[in-house]
Amino acid sequence: MYRDTTCGELRLADAGKRVKLAGWVQRARKMGGMTFVDIRDRYGLTQAVFSNEKDAELAETASHLGREYVIQVEGEVAERSSKNPNLPTGEVEVIASGLRILNKSEVPPFTIEDNTDGGDDLRMKYRYLDLRRPAVRSNLELRHRMAFEIRRYLDSQGFLEVETPILVKSTPEGARDFVVPSRMNPGEFYALPQSPQLFKQLLMVSGFDRYFQIAKCFRDEDLRADRQPEFTQIDCEMSFVEQEDVIQMFEGLVKHIFKYVKNIDFTEAFPRITWHDAMRRYGSDKPDIRFGMEFVDFTDLAKGHGFGVVDNAELTIGICAPGCAGYTRKQLDELTEFVKRPQVGAKGMVWVKFEADGSVKSSVGKFYDEAALKAWGERAGAKPGDLLLLLSGDAMATRKQLCELRLEMGNRLGLRDKNVFAPLWVIDFPLFEWDEETQRYYAMHHPFTSPNPEDIPMLHSDTGKVRATAYDIVVNGTELGGGSIRIHDAALQDTMFELLGFTPERAHEQFGFLMDAFKYGAPPHGGLALGFDRFVSILAGLDTIRDVIAFPKNNSGRDVMNESPSPIDDSQLDELQLQIKLKE
Ligand code: AMO
Repeated sequence: MYRDTTCGELRLADAGKRVKLAGWVQRARKMGGMTFVDIRDRYGLTQAVFSNEKDAELAETASHLGREYVIQVEGEVAERSSKNPNLPTGEVEVIASGLRILNKSEVPPFTIEDNTDGGDDLRMKYRYLDLRRPAVRSNLELRHRMAFEIRRYLDSQGFLEVETPILVKSTPEGARDFVVPSRMNPGEFYALPQSPQLFKQLLMVSGFDRYFQIAKCFRDEDLRADRQPEFTQIDCEMSFVEQEDVIQMFEGLVKHIFKYVKNIDFTEAFPRITWHDAMRRYGSDKPDIRFGMEFVDFTDLAKGHGFGVVDNAELTIGICAPGCAGYTRKQLDELTEFVKRPQVGAKGMVWVKFEADGSVKSSVGKFYDEAALKAWGERAGAKPGDLLLLLSGDAMATRKQLCELRLEMGNRLGLRDKNVFAPLWVIDFPLFEWDEETQRYYAMHHPFTSPNPEDIPMLHSDTGKVRATAYDIVVNGTELGGGSIRIHDAALQDTMFELLGFTPERAHEQFGFLMDAFKYGAPPHGGLALGFDRFVSILAGLDTIRDVIAFPKNNSGRDVMNESPSPIDDSQLDELQLQIKLKE
């Protein structure tokens, strides 16, 4: 037996026990006639003591142990004279009588501690060492616990976990596909699934009724903190349901996870907001409602005072930052710089300070007298000491810019507490999104999303206004998941393809198998998918999903540890009958 005890479990009550531990050397230090060795494994850290007096040879060997050596220690548990209250095992130590070096280690390129000296790139290159750090390991432990609870909840609700293929047919809708050449079918390609969407709908046709899968998905899109090229969805589908049934079921799942993983009880229903209201009040379809600072519309009040920027703008909106009237010139300049950054894209920012003494100061005092500015303050509910920040321009762009400014102010004011969770549903998304560049409609969700039945008569006459039966669940400003009720009627699906600019031939070529299946009795169905990596990172209070993935890719989509993607051998290319022709 290599061990009979882990490095995380010994307590004062174990004093006197003989134990055998195995693990990695966190550090070994010699102090006078004693050598102290901290041994680490998945469960914790235990101190072993080697004394010259007891066994000089053993103590000498121990004093030469290098960091990350793999060792086995035998000895007796004893109460420590100087206890370490920061360590669960800190009241005891193991008085060693035996030591075996199971393996040596080179000096690791960074310290294996929560506060490591290793930069991001180095830690990714040696990810297997990074994963030894308790902070990273605990993220994966949380991930495991969540996956377990998700399965427990869905199983209790009668869901079956069914695996679907990883080699699928490429479809042009949505993000870019990753493709895989087929050796047996030269010149032909599979795609990796962006989601199991079509398969789960087929499973409904097959009568599976309640399906789920913790599924790997692949999308070749630009990466961000909450996006990886391969990621995991909690993918779900149900038959004989309406939107309300789906929302209830998965609100139940999210509540279950918060309860069993975080011990947080959500006793009320999650708030719901329509897409239109979310855009109007927060400028985002994934609003962070941990704090207020909702948008206030000043368009009518601001126009007609000779201030050209505002007079010519479609929309003038602002937020009221509580208690910020004391902002200095420098702080206001910083905010102006912030909104002018290319990622935000505003041309400028207007500010109005409502001073504690009742006076008003503004960057646009030239155009607006005190009475006019006070009317703005009244509309915004500004109190003495508050600061108004306004942006003007085209409606949609200005809303998005003010959304960025609102989040920035939320950060500055410490209103985005990672230990506070504010879930909500965003409903009534538009069915279509118009694309100026290609002059056509795209499905905002995907082409199988059902229109809101009330809006079906407007499909041709007022296409852009048709609402989808689609819903997103949002937590703390992150889109955690989304789904919809699907079209199960072949004629309606044909209309949808037509409006999306598919010829019947092309629709058949891409989705023929689904359309064929729908001829054989497709039940009404709908579902959703939650981003599992995002779910874990929100609960872990992390800013990026990379930290909850064992072996993630970097922002260029590379795995810097195994150096992929990488060229393949000419012989492999030959076998696939492929030639590489790189652009200059
Ligand atoms: P959607 O595309 O909204 O819906 O994806 C569902 C959820 O998956 C997560 N997600 C991602 N997470 C990490 N990296 C990515 N690149 C990434 N892309 C998406 C998000 C998102 O909310 N088939 C539909 C679902 C359905 O209609 O049932 C779908 O895939 O958290």
